[in-house]
Amino acid sequence: MIYIHIPFCKQRCIYCAFYSVSTVSDKQKYLDALCKELECRTNYLPDRKITTIYIGGGTPSILSIEQLSKICHTIQSNYDIANVEEFTIEANPEQLTMDYLQALKQLGFVDRISIGVQTFDDDKLKMLNRRHSSAMALEAIKNAQKLGFNNISIDLIYGIPGMTLQQWQKNLDIVAGLNVQHLSCYALTVEQGTMLDTLIQKAKIPQVDDDETIKHYNALQRWIENNGFIQYEISNYCKQGFEAKHNSRYWDCTPYLGVGAAAHSFDGSSRQWNIDNVVAYIEGINNANPIYSAERLSQKDMYNEYIMTALRTAKGLDNDVLAKYRQYWSEAEKLLEKYIYNGMVLKTECGYKLSKQGFLFADAIAADLFCISQ
Ligand SMILES: C[S@@+](CC[C@H](N)C(=O)[O-])C[C@H]1O[C@@H](n2cnc3c(N)ncnc32)[C@H](O)[C@@H]1O
Repeated sequence: MIYIHIPFCKQRCIYCAFYSVSTVSDKQKYLDALCKELECRTNYLPDRKITTIYIGGGTPSILSIEQLSKICHTIQSNYDIANVEEFTIEANPEQLTMDYLQALKQLGFVDRISIGVQTFDDDKLKMLNRRHSSAMALEAIKNAQKLGFNNISIDLIYGIPGMTLQQWQKNLDIVAGLNVQHLSCYALTVEQGTMLDTLIQKAKIPQVDDDETIKHYNALQRWIENNGFIQYEISNYCKQGFEAKHNSRYWDCTPYLGVGAAAHSFDGSSRQWNIDNVVAYIEGINNANPIYSAERLSQKDMYNEYIMTALRTAKGLDNDVLAKYRQYWSEAEKLLEKYIYNGMVLKTECGYKLSKQGFLFADAIAADLFCISQ
């Protein structure tokens, strides 16, 4: 698995806490460094045979097709991509013109597009500081479909301050007519230090209303049942057979190589992450002195990560895996009783999973099951 990070955005969304910069003058130098990193780290993964590739951001569609082509061909020359099962690019609607999509199709590597729609409500798009309109998002999806892209995902956010249940429902009604294969629906999180956080503190935007967010989540659950989607992870929904392969493998703890500023990598036992600064990243790569931090994961870390990620999936926790962590799990298992009793956790044939209502409290339940002793 290869993840490529493109940390550029034309402007910052008010809710976003991910690393990105809006000065794109370093774009070409960044790409050169990124390709150099791809060439230098061919031995990072136990196997050069790559099964999935994901270009994420930031805003990867800020890149020209020539720049994307350079990344794709660098991967092709340095790794075995003959068996790649999924190649995703994240894209923002305003860049997905017919010309851009046509050139992307011609380039021939990408077979899945994840479009950052966020909402089909123009007032909310403005409030969130997005550059596109609802009409642009609809046009982008239709253009991609016309050109034969048949694995399209859209990102939506619910629980936006001031968004009524009817407005959220209208978003879902629009999606029902789009014939997309995959949906990522996130409850809006107010991340510390974001513009959203500041605006809420200054009372320029109302607080997130948790009760309203729960109503949106419940409406989403009803919608997916009526529209032939399945929930395979807390925020991810798809038509049968269209689970995101790349993301699902993160949750299975498959090793992956992450390239670019702020990108994380995992080799099966340790995790490392590149510096989250474009200029320092470029300098490090060019001086053959890449700047990154690393940590070796202890058994306890692996256990906690497994609990956190597996609990967020529809499959849930697997007894065979839990058996490997018996020393931590035997204590945690006792705590499950109360969650089973109140219907948050369900027993499955091979382990435990969260119920639909349990997903709403996934972080708190996972934290309860973590091992925090030394
Ligand atoms: C890393 S972002 C980048 C995607 C893309 N460049 C875009 O903004 O359209 C991936 C997705 O995470 C979601 N996201 C980011 N911050 C969030 C927040 N604070 N609350 C809820 N969802 C968030 C958005 O739906 C976004 O599309």
